[in-house]
Amino acid sequence: MALLIIGSQRSEEFASAAREQVPDLDIRIWPDTGPVEDIRYALAWGPPVGALKRFPGLELIISVGAGVDHLMKDPELPGVPVVRYVDPDLTGRMVGYIALNVLMHLRRMSEYLEQQRQRTWRYLPEPAAHEVRVGLMGLGVMGKAAAKGLEALGCQLRGWSRTQKTIEGVECFAGQESLDAFLSGTDILVCTLPLTPDTRGIINRDLMRKLSRHGRHRRMPGPVLINAGRGALQIEADILAALDAGELYAASLDVFETEPLPASSPLWSHPRVVITPHNAAESTPEAISRYMLRQIARHRAGLPLENIVDPVRGY
Ligand code: NAP
Ligand code: GLV
Repeated sequence: MALLIIGSQRSEEFASAAREQVPDLDIRIWPDTGPVEDIRYALAWGPPVGALKRFPGLELIISVGAGVDHLMKDPELPGVPVVRYVDPDLTGRMVGYIALNVLMHLRRMSEYLEQQRQRTWRYLPEPAAHEVRVGLMGLGVMGKAAAKGLEALGCQLRGWSRTQKTIEGVECFAGQESLDAFLSGTDILVCTLPLTPDTRGIINRDLMRKLSRHGRHRRMPGPVLINAGRGALQIEADILAALDAGELYAASLDVFETEPLPASSPLWSHPRVVITPHNAAESTPEAISRYMLRQIARHRAGLPLENIVDPVRGY
């Protein structure tokens, strides 16, 4: 039984970490697969379309990421279980990214950094955390954990998901029919939605115009967008237009329509856009290897797999 690592620039690092944990593991790194019939398991990020169907003995695909859109876009993906990555290491990183960026904007840090560059000592009005309404788009593993972290900061919380949730301290909305109501009471929108045919392009001008303008009464300069889901959820030209029109005060973007973000993108130089290189939550070699080896062990022992992707929902 061999493990294939495919579709990641970090394949060698993942292989070394896995070998440290199980020294005699037979690991092949794409495209050096050896005989295709040896491969039983695949650890995959964005494999070339059609690549995984070449392995007739493949039993299980483990996603390097929590998001599986890179896998689901393959129309020839073999019909074996796909397990996505869910781990406290990854979740904790995401909570840190979200808390950091919520605080960044409610404390107007991009303006203070600009003032520092200008050696300007000027007070700016700021809301208290308890005056700010954070809207979590996506109430899955990441959204729920972010809610706990933001609750500790004292923010008011609301959340939106496909199916109705009940979460203490979070006003929950579900489905397309309640999206407008969710947005209309949101000062800071935090997106951790997966990319599926239903969510592609959802962060557009129309959506941003529906965010609350009433935060201004509580010293929020305007609505804020934080997107740590996937780049194809957002229309970047619309984000820039909304910023320029004052419909958005600021944005933190970790994911982009094209990654790496092209040097020509005007997002790079916008004074109130915070850009990070898709590292809101990194799958570290140690943690993803540990997780992958646990799933393989469960599979071999005939135990139920964890975090199986529903191919119909696409996440
Ligand atoms: P998850 O547990 O599957 O949660 C997904 C959430 O999105 C669920 O609440 C789901 O609703 C909701 N959702 C899906 N489709 C929807 C729709 N059409 N309308 C409304 N809500 C919808 O996933 P997760 O572990 O939280 O991860 C979420 C995403 O974060 C990943 O897919 C990935 O794209 C992204 N991510 C990014 C990074 C990064 O570094 N930037 C790192 C990790 C993850 P239900 O609860 O009703 O199913
Ligand atoms: C990263 O983007 C992930 O999906 O885990």
